[in-house]
Amino acid sequence: MNILVTGGAGYIGSHTCVQLLDAGYDIAVLDNLDNSCEESLNRVKQITGKDFKFYEVDLLDYEATDKVFAENKFDAVIHFAGLKAVGESCRIPLRYYHNNITGTLNLLDIMNKHNVKKIVFSSSATVYGDPHTVPIKEDFPLSCTNPYGQTKLDIEYILKDLSKSDPEWGVILLRYFNPVGAHESGMIGEDPNGIPNNLIPYISQVAIGKLECLSVFGDDYDTKDGTGVRDYIHVVDLADGHIKALEKIKDNTGVFIYNLGTGVGYSVLDMVKAFSKACGKDVKYKIVDRRPGDIASCYADPAKAKAELGFEATHNLDDMCRDTWNWQSKNPNGYKG
Ligand code: NAD
Ligand code: UD1
Repeated sequence: MNILVTGGAGYIGSHTCVQLLDAGYDIAVLDNLDNSCEESLNRVKQITGKDFKFYEVDLLDYEATDKVFAENKFDAVIHFAGLKAVGESCRIPLRYYHNNITGTLNLLDIMNKHNVKKIVFSSSATVYGDPHTVPIKEDFPLSCTNPYGQTKLDIEYILKDLSKSDPEWGVILLRYFNPVGAHESGMIGEDPNGIPNNLIPYISQVAIGKLECLSVFGDDYDTKDGTGVRDYIHVVDLADGHIKALEKIKDNTGVFIYNLGTGVGYSVLDMVKAFSKACGKDVKYKIVDRRPGDIASCYADPAKAKAELGFEATHNLDDMCRDTWNWQSKNPNGYKG
């Protein structure tokens, strides 16, 4: 199969490209490098020993995206491309709606035109809002609290409507929990711009000495130690979920929705402890107020993905911390050298 990977130069995209190439898929990557750089793709080529086409194209550029489809015969698209920072989406909502939704509408229109009707979409556990109970199942009520989350929910509805209107479409919505870790080679990993918003990149930059001290956002949640609980999943497991999703839509049409998580929740303090063990030094932290918009506990019920995709995470918390640290210590300034 020949797969177009939008957003393939990014964190999850680059890891998925490695898995796709290793599994024998042909790929092309489309990315505008808004939140990534081509070096990640050079490293994907080094890891796999395989070559592929890269198009530095913005999905908002209809003609350029159309040309990519005209030059290739794709069987399916894995659609990672999008902006993803929650706080930024509250400050500049129009940019988020335009980029994520208009970009996706362009992509879907062009796919239709070229008769490519299979798509795997990067959704997020954020579409569950503040769940009444955990673990979270796919049929839980949906809601969201910020423009980023709203774009994910809107795109889910767009894809569901498209599939209703044309039964030839095969759509898989993958709702990721908290992706962390890096490829075991330490050659690709998460390379956030500026000060990281997410926990593990922040902890690893404290460990490497780039940041002073982790602020733990609240210790008065109704959780085992009062700090927020999340379902951290190794990015290599997450990438594997995309291969399983492709296998599923190869011969199926309709819409399929899966949580990609481990089913295990860890607190912020669990993460600090596990990371300290992996890097061999104490990670300095202090307790501060809760972060607005945060919830106490969020972890997946992964049973549906296991039953229908045969997907199961195989990396544990120590693997996640070890591989994050391996990437961080080999690339203290990310891809910038
Ligand atoms: P990332 O920012 O590393 O990768 C996204 C890529 O999309 C970047 O390389 C960026 O340059 C590209 N891009 C953005 N807008 C584009 C456009 N208009 N045209 C072409 N390329 C464009 O993010 P990631 O962590 O790899 O996330 C991938 C996807 O998974 C995103 O859709 C994100 O919302 C979703 N997701 C991520 C997480 C997470 O914690 N990382 C959690 C849930 C869902
Ligand atoms: C955040 C986003 C979510 C997005 C996900 C993946 C918010 C409110 N939610 O989820 O929409 O899908 O990232 O990109 O931004 N924490 C600290 N100190 C820090 C950073 C985080 O204590 O410096 C805590 C948080 O309070 C939370 C946990 O660590 O309990 C995980 O935080 P984070 O990595 O930002 O992920 P989420 O909040 O789960």
